[in-house]
Amino acid sequence: MQIIDKSEIAPNVYACKVRAEAIAKKVQPGQFIMVIPDQYSERTPITVADWNTSEGTITFIFLDIGSSTNRLAELKPGEEIFSLTGPLGNSFDIKKYGSVGLVGGCYGIGGIYPAARALREKGNRVVCYSEARSKFLLYWNKKLEEVSDEVRYATADGSLGFKGHAYDLLETDLKSGVKYDLVITVGCTFLMYRISKVTEPYQMKTIVSMNPIMIDGTGMCGACRVEVDGATRFACVDGPHFDGHQMNWDLVLARRKAYLDEEIVSGERHDYGKS
Ligand SMILES: Cc1cc2nc3c(=O)[nH]c(=O)nc-3n(C[C@H](O)[C@H](O)[C@H](O)COP(=O)(O)OP(=O)(O)OC[C@H]3O[C@@H](n4cnc5c(N)ncnc54)[C@H](O)[C@@H]3O)c2cc1C
Ligand code: FES
Repeated sequence: MQIIDKSEIAPNVYACKVRAEAIAKKVQPGQFIMVIPDQYSERTPITVADWNTSEGTITFIFLDIGSSTNRLAELKPGEEIFSLTGPLGNSFDIKKYGSVGLVGGCYGIGGIYPAARALREKGNRVVCYSEARSKFLLYWNKKLEEVSDEVRYATADGSLGFKGHAYDLLETDLKSGVKYDLVITVGCTFLMYRISKVTEPYQMKTIVSMNPIMIDGTGMCGACRVEVDGATRFACVDGPHFDGHQMNWDLVLARRKAYLDEEIVSGERHDYGKS
């Protein structure tokens, strides 16, 4: 698949547009693709953040954090991605709920964008919460504002909007009487965990977009196992979206660290930047 456009939209965060006609025709908000940057890279699950059916292109946002995403960050417009498969996983359930809060952090800001657009088209009031450590780490502000009734910004240093995390801002809003018929959150595990804890006392339905380690992405290997309401589920085929109040978060956090040593060794061996 050919890269049409690629740019660093915030430090270490890239937006990549590729030609992928078949995926652009089928993809729905919340689905992901499996990207293999070059023949030596691992299969890397990445959420589709935008698409253009008539152009036959899809856009995804990724963080350069390890061997495979590092290789992806090095590829230039005009170059080919070795393999790209999708759309995979289930989409969000897009229908009329009333008022929907969408919370995105890191790559999840891109992840909530198509959901916000589709939910608003269905007549929902859409409020997005976009978080980063500082203003310069936020991206797609204008795009999000175009598809939302309101965008609430949270920055750890207070350089834009609320000073603190998105879960602190959401908690402040809920305490002041704001009500959502549905909350959706996409981003790092800790953000989704904290958002689920904030909404739980209000019994506010909360969907988390799980990002466990995946290998095949088609339900064959079991690597992406999570426990939801006491039952084992595979995030790649049963999810990646689950009820955050039913998630066994202790298991999620323990399993995320399973290959930490190997990831460090891999990062050292695949020193792409110097080749
Ligand atoms: C359904 C799904 C959708 C995703 N969507 C996106 C997306 O849109 N954009 C994006 O940047 N990333 C996304 N991720 C996370 C992405 O797949 C990982 O960041 C990537 O696989 C890391 O590969 P690597 O070889 O570059 O890093 P590795 O060397 O494998 O890991 C480097 C560091 O990243 C951490 N890491 C590994 N896997 C994950 C993971 N699944 N999530 C978060 N951190 C991880 C490791 O613990 C380690 O600290 C998604 C994951 C899933 C399961
Ligand atoms: S990634 Fe293998 S079962 Fe989900």
